Amino acid sequence: MNLASSTPFEINLSARASLLEAKLDRLLPAQPGNRLRAAMRYAALGQGKRLRPFFVTESAALHGVDKERALNVAAALEMIHCYSLVHDDLPAMDNDDLRRGQPTTHRKFDEATAILAGDGLLTLAFEVLGNAGEPATLIAALAKAAGPSGMVGGQMLDMEAETRGFASLEAISQMQGMKTGALFEFACTAGPLMAKADTSALKTYAEKIGLAFQIADDILDVESSSEALGKATQKDKAKGKATFVDFLGLDAAKKEATNLVEDAKAALKSYGSKADLLRGAADFMIARRK
Ligand code: IPE
Ligand code: IPE
Ligand code: MG
Ligand code: MG
Ligand code: MG
Repeated sequence: MNLASSTPFEINLSARASLLEAKLDRLLPAQPGNRLRAAMRYAALGQGKRLRPFFVTESAALHGVDKERALNVAAALEMIHCYSLVHDDLPAMDNDDLRRGQPTTHRKFDEATAILAGDGLLTLAFEVLGNAGEPATLIAALAKAAGPSGMVGGQMLDMEAETRGFASLEAISQMQGMKTGALFEFACTAGPLMAKADTSALKTYAEKIGLAFQIADDILDVESSSEALGKATQKDKAKGKATFVDFLGLDAAKKEATNLVEDAKAALKSYGSKADLLRGAADFMIARRK
């Protein structure tokens, strides 16, 4: 990252990404000759932005949660995110060859190994939380965010829409809230959940930035290049996927994303200046170029 042009948030994100990657490296030790372990490491240790872990550790810091504890939860969530990418890229889903600037896991290894590496990351995440003695409420919240009421359910709605399309903007918002929003919501509320504090302000913040993030993902799919993004572009149209950009057009989609970012920041009012990094993070959701 070019620090000269980076915002305070970006500098912080980069430092935290290094801590998170060191943690993932410890949780996923290399085992020579073990193909499954190699694929899990490959899927988890690439060039991710590590946004979800940032939100876990920052919401935890705001609520006085122990840093090591937060980093452990952040790593478990990132494993689930990485698993979702491995499966999302499979031939039966988005059929992508490039992820984080590298061949996708099924391209680097093979399909069966990629499926199992995804399964391995998903289950290991819960092993890590269980071993750390995290409470059932936190574990259940993550399971809900990742499962049929959250990410997996949203992925299904997205797949079904390839043939059926979306009836309305509300239908797309619902799908994206599940597919992308639910893991962001878990990330942003993990701090107050761990501290047994009120989650409502950060829940609102998360809903807004989650949607803004996915609108930006859809805009980048249209406007960016695979070199800049590290993944294929122009995929949504090719797949017949209706996104916010189709419904609203590019300009209105950008305006909507900007409004969402402002709403997200407004939700942080009660935290005062302690939440400035989260304000910067909200801006980054749509300012990002990858
Ligand atoms: C990509 O997420 C998948 C979506 C939910 C759109 P990110 O853009 O956070 O991917 P990485 O982790 O930085 O690669
Ligand atoms: C995938 O959405 C979101 C996940 C749950 C993995 P996309 O299919 O739009 O993500 P990209 O564009 O491949 O990263
Ligand atoms: Mg997809
Ligand atoms: Mg995809
Ligand atoms: Mg996309």
